Amino acid sequence: MSGKKILVTGGTGYIGSHTVVELFNAGYQPIIIDNFSNSSARIIDQIEAINGIRPEFVNLDLCDARLTSDFVSQHPDISGVIHFAAYKAVGESVEQPLKYYHNNLFSLINLLSAFSDKPVNFVFSSSCTVYGEPDQLPVTERAPVKKAESPYGNTKQIAEEILSEVAGTSKSLKVTALRYFNPVGAHHSALIGELPIGVPQNLVPFITQSAIGKRGPLIVHGNDYNTPDGSCIRDYIHVVDLAKAHVSALKFMENSDEGGYEVFNIGTGKGSTVLQVINTFETATGVKLEYKIGKRRPGDIEKIYGEVSKAKHDLGWNAELDLGEMMSSAWAWEKYIQQNPL
Ligand code: WQD
Repeated sequence: MSGKKILVTGGTGYIGSHTVVELFNAGYQPIIIDNFSNSSARIIDQIEAINGIRPEFVNLDLCDARLTSDFVSQHPDISGVIHFAAYKAVGESVEQPLKYYHNNLFSLINLLSAFSDKPVNFVFSSSCTVYGEPDQLPVTERAPVKKAESPYGNTKQIAEEILSEVAGTSKSLKVTALRYFNPVGAHHSALIGELPIGVPQNLVPFITQSAIGKRGPLIVHGNDYNTPDGSCIRDYIHVVDLAKAHVSALKFMENSDEGGYEVFNIGTGKGSTVLQVINTFETATGVKLEYKIGKRRPGDIEKIYGEVSKAKHDLGWNAELDLGEMMSSAWAWEKYIQQNPL
């Protein structure tokens, strides 16, 4: 493997593992740091099964400044970093704010400090959650960042500010922040996918677990919103398309002379309601889904979808997989994981 070495923090997680697969496909040499606080070590075996190469891996907590600094010193050939490692459960962040501020911010600060004098291309896992409920749709990268609805969302906003300021004064650090919309689906091999711990909070893993009989009927959180069918609108993006955007972001920085900080919306640019997702799931899989209409979920915004022309123009990236493929791949993964618990 002759490719550039790329550090992937949180590389055994949902988006991280799909990105490691795409890095191998693009000829890079990924090295994973993870502490398994929200993933399974078996994912390393699954990635090897997909790519035929076992990724290098270090079990390390990035909140330990010395261990993080030692790791970076021992790997001077790392040319890029893709930083996924963070807690990401919105509800849990409201109950345990300090856990989120400590973990999500200290891990980032330790990583940046460890690379402080080394040239590195840094891709940051951000989120459309920074927009809150946008005033205009589709939402562009120039839209104002609104007061975060949760400590989780606030850690993403603070992290973007830290990265923007540090990159602005650094001669060696280039940063690309990717604002994800709603990642769903799984690799077509069905060997990797979303592994929610406990009862899934997110829509699609609940749909597939309900459909396979692991959960009761789906509760649709409200159908009295100002949308075509009353349920909320989101921009769902296939996790493989999202993973490829990280490779495009690395190449963008490798090919540009300026340093600095850039932000990109990574979505499809299309909005889908919850009921449309359910219908697409049933059509794509042939499985009838039982669901009930419940009350609105506190903290939910009514509708959001991205304006994604900047990523297309600057990164040469755009989403290619549609909602049907998102649903069929999520279902294939659910059936795999039922037979092969990780
Ligand atoms: C989507 C829609 C729910 C579950 C969150 C984070 C965001 C990002 C993606 C990390 C909403 C409805 C859901 C259910 C339902 N994560 N729903 N019944 O809240 O848009 O975004 O995950 O970056 O930061 O906030 O995603 O999948 O939870 O909800 O009706 O059982 O599905 O009300 O309208 P969300 P979600």
